Amino acid sequence: MKNQYLDVAIKAAKEAGKIILKNFRKIKTITDKGNDSFFTNVDLASEKKIISVIKNEFPDHNFLAEEVGTKDIGSEYTWIIDPIDGTHEYMHGFDYFGISIALAKNNKVLLGVIYFPILKKLYYAVRGKGAYSGGKRLHVSKRKLKSAYVLLTGNLKKFQKEKLKAIELLAARCFRIRIYGAAVYNLCNIAEGNAEAIIEWDTNPWDIAAGFLIVEEAGGKITDFKGNKWTIRTKDHIASNGIVHEEIRKILKRK
Ligand code: IPD
Ligand code: CA
Ligand code: CA
Repeated sequence: MKNQYLDVAIKAAKEAGKIILKNFRKIKTITDKGNDSFFTNVDLASEKKIISVIKNEFPDHNFLAEEVGTKDIGSEYTWIIDPIDGTHEYMHGFDYFGISIALAKNNKVLLGVIYFPILKKLYYAVRGKGAYSGGKRLHVSKRKLKSAYVLLTGNLKKFQKEKLKAIELLAARCFRIRIYGAAVYNLCNIAEGNAEAIIEWDTNPWDIAAGFLIVEEAGGKITDFKGNKWTIRTKDHIASNGIVHEEIRKILKRK
């Protein structure tokens, strides 16, 4: 697929991936964000690298980046960047964290790239052109709820009541519930047909912009809990293979 924006996003993700790999289990500083979450010197270095690679090619574009790099210079194009999604997994030495880069034009996501430096897996999608990984087009699964892997994520201290209720309501209805702490990992596994749905609360644009497009281009569905179609500002959401979507939404309403 020839696309100048995609080529630059992949280059930026891979260059940042090198920095992240080199520093794996050698983190120098950990900073408390004050909301029960942390970032490291490697998050900052990764973000700096991604922005410098993109800025070099597209100096007039905006940036919306998780740590320090947000800059709005009035462009209709905005790069949405999570330099490490799954920072706490990275800090604890797990391998499934990833870099997320999306390009939006007037808030509509045009492309998304997610790269897992340790797993050496790259996922990407261009709006209207499909989602890909490892040279293959991605398709969500056709599994129904009773054989589904339903994913939850993140911090069980936040939205604890809702999350525990969701587990209670869904555990008997699906095949397995699984919990991973990286939005990008959950979304790529849905796009690849390994898992059927993720239920997530209170995300930011950099957590989901690339992943939502990848799921959608793989044939999946993403809505908020009320059933509204996703935007980059969607917070609480279900992303799924489409088949299990409405059933999960109805089950969650019984809270
Ligand atoms: C977090 C992860 C986590 C999700 C949180 C995100 P971070 O991102 O994606 O799975 O539940 O909402 O903030 O902090 O690791 O980039
Ligand atoms: Ca994130
Ligand atoms: Ca992050």
